[in-house]
Amino acid sequence: MSRNISLLSGKKDDKNSLFGKIASSPNQESDNKIARDYNLGVSTIHSTKSFYDFLGDGFKSKKAYVCTGSACLCRGTQDLVSKKLDEKFGTDNVGEMVCLGRCYENSAFHYEGKNYSGEDINKLDKIIKGTHTGPKYTMKSYADTSFLVENEVFSTYKDFKDLLKKCLSDDKHNLIDSLKESGLRGRGGAGFPTGMKWEFCQAQEANKKYVVCNADEGDPGAFSDRYLLEEQTLKVLFGMVICGYLIGSNQGFLYIRGEYPESINITNQALNKLRDLGLLGKSILGTNFDFDMNVVEGQGAYICGEETALIASIEGRRAEVDVRPPFPTVEGLYKKPTVVNNVESLAAVATIFKLGNDSFKNIGNGKSTGTKLVSLDGHFNNPGLYEVNMAAPMDYIIDDIGGGFNEDIKAVQVGGPLGGIVPVEILRNLTLDFESFDNGGFLLGHASFVCIPKSFSAIEYAKHLFAFTAHESCGKCFPCRLGSIRGKEMLESAIYNNAKFSKELMHDLLETMESGSLCALGGGLPLPIKNLLEHCAEEFKPLMGK
Ligand SMILES: Cc1cc2nc3c(=O)[nH]c(=O)nc-3n(C[C@H](O)[C@H](O)[C@H](O)COP(=O)(O)O)c2cc1C
Ligand code: SF4
Repeated sequence: MSRNISLLSGKKDDKNSLFGKIASSPNQESDNKIARDYNLGVSTIHSTKSFYDFLGDGFKSKKAYVCTGSACLCRGTQDLVSKKLDEKFGTDNVGEMVCLGRCYENSAFHYEGKNYSGEDINKLDKIIKGTHTGPKYTMKSYADTSFLVENEVFSTYKDFKDLLKKCLSDDKHNLIDSLKESGLRGRGGAGFPTGMKWEFCQAQEANKKYVVCNADEGDPGAFSDRYLLEEQTLKVLFGMVICGYLIGSNQGFLYIRGEYPESINITNQALNKLRDLGLLGKSILGTNFDFDMNVVEGQGAYICGEETALIASIEGRRAEVDVRPPFPTVEGLYKKPTVVNNVESLAAVATIFKLGNDSFKNIGNGKSTGTKLVSLDGHFNNPGLYEVNMAAPMDYIIDDIGGGFNEDIKAVQVGGPLGGIVPVEILRNLTLDFESFDNGGFLLGHASFVCIPKSFSAIEYAKHLFAFTAHESCGKCFPCRLGSIRGKEMLESAIYNNAKFSKELMHDLLETMESGSLCALGGGLPLPIKNLLEHCAEEFKPLMGK
């Protein structure tokens, strides 16, 4: 059935996503029309609509939304934000959104298509009048060579044109070899070599191929993709165009989460300008290369960051994870070979092609090369976004860049809600690369740092992670769908009813989720829970039975 939807969705109109049409369909009549146009049952349209938070009953009628992400939770700012929004708009008019990418100053909320944070909550009247725009975040490169943040090397439309001209006259295999040589590994979490992914896709025989930018940055604590989309848009878009050229694709999609409205607007403006300049569209720069791309707006589902769920979403299906293999490079969007890359992976390509692969390869430890953006939350004295050399010592990042912590911190969750929870004394001895975090039993992920203060209960944090997974589970496999709810219930009855929870049952639950889940949402949650149980054992002791 889902295969049929993929094929029908692509056959009818492979450029404008079915999902975009479903998401903007205002009523039953228009749902019926979409179903007729695509030769689908109307129940399929409803089933898709019912999957997404933003398309749920009454969601869009709210006036303001409070951020419920982990960083704001740990900072303890959101009760006050909720209170002030309730007072201004009425409780029924205030909803929730999960992580608005404002983790560096917390107190985050959303109002009328824009996000706010920090002191903004005290300026609601000005915000409503439209006379207040919040401050920008701190962002700086500490890397030997900046590939992502500084603008000298590549930032203007002229830079885009010049580099594209150069690349379009180069040999495709040389360019892919050069990317492989650079050692660039995917920044979306798994660290798969980008050049190799492009080569696999290039080798596929197919009448159509697609390039997809994964800009669903759902990890609470991370705001690096948001920055790149808003401030380094051309680097990201260049990565997509050149990927299209190298793999033989003429169509791309940027799947940008709906919680980042500014990113969506800025990216759309840049796409229009590139079209005006003839750098997108037919016969780019007088060659026989055609390429264009469109933005698809996410509708509030964390699982859409997982690449097969993201593909399902663009196709207008429920965003349920698919079994791999086949991998997207063989059978991806509309069942055609597809490269899915993270925003930061794509952004790095422009500078690598501009400066040459050596400059990237020579930074790092040989296996993790180049530079990486790190997102430091509001518990650092210098919160913000920083570009650092791969393999930089963590104590340098914590103290010299982050300026140390502004509160007593017991542990830091690195790499999103499925990342390890690392006690500060252990974190200080790691280096910022895939190997160091793997060897320590943790994950580098997207390199977001959410600090858990000593004053914040480890049990509450564990409950928060179970609740997050229960809410975001796509429901395809039962270890995750049921396990996350059971874990949440066990902790809730321990917290609210003073009931002891069974150590053995918790252990079995975590083992079942880890080994039996289809993807790294259910499969990944046990890592941070186990870290909490181990490193904060004293806090859990009074709640534990046999
Ligand atoms: C639950 C889950 C959420 C994910 N979220 C993201 C995300 O927000 N952004 C992202 O690029 N990759 C995310 N990924 C990883 C993607 O599936 C995929 O590996 C990545 O987009 C590939 O790009 P890369 O090779 O450039 O890293 C997620 C994976 C899982 C299992
Ligand atoms: S682990 Fe969770 S999110 Fe992943 S496929 Fe299973 S139910 Fe879906």
